[in-house]
Amino acid sequence: MVQQNIVKHPTTVSKQDRQKLNNHKSCALWFTGFSGSGKSTLAYELDCQLFDLGIRSYVLDGDNIRHGLNKELGFSSEDRVENIRRVGEVAKLFVDSGQIVITAFISPFQKDRDHVRKLFEHHEFMEVYVDCPFEICEQRDPKGLYQRARKGEIRDFTGIDSPYEPPVNPELTINTQQNTVHEAAQHIITHLKKKGII
Ligand code: PPS
Repeated sequence: MVQQNIVKHPTTVSKQDRQKLNNHKSCALWFTGFSGSGKSTLAYELDCQLFDLGIRSYVLDGDNIRHGLNKELGFSSEDRVENIRRVGEVAKLFVDSGQIVITAFISPFQKDRDHVRKLFEHHEFMEVYVDCPFEICEQRDPKGLYQRARKGEIRDFTGIDSPYEPPVNPELTINTQQNTVHEAAQHIITHLKKKGII
């Protein structure tokens, strides 16, 4: 729905001013991958490493956001689309505020990730494929959810009876089977340095 009678208020302090104050640029690191692929673990490790470098970052994590902002949303395709749309908008606010935002959502549909990408300037959005074979994610099963989904206790479970579309052209692919979480975070930090973000 297009909002009528609502006029955007101009900002006073610009994104560039905020970035200057922070001494680094801002961007969204959009993690995508199966449940159990290591998105959250990597996101929080990266957040810690960035914090130690004096960089302003913040994690938006699926499980956490679904306890608050998106608590009425489930796992139907429609609800996942809305989940990702909202998180994309929140991520944009973080980037406008001069920070590095790390989002950890399955975000199973390429179309939705592409929609989010369009909210940002070209260099501000990086799709990070947290790549781990489905069988390994299911074996890891850190929350016992795969087991419950196999028993039919959870429906619409990603990779079982709900689809996952791997990224077509991600800026980064991190294999969490072959790298330690520390190495994986280092790899992303090297990329951020190479791109002149930090
Ligand atoms: S999505 O697809 O992006 O909207 O999902 P997301 O917001 O990232 O939430 C995924 C976490 O919710 C738990 N969970 C499920 N995942 C997938 N399918 C179903 N049906 C489901 N039900 C609950 C699960 O713990 C996911 O967390 P992660 O961190 O990905 O393991």
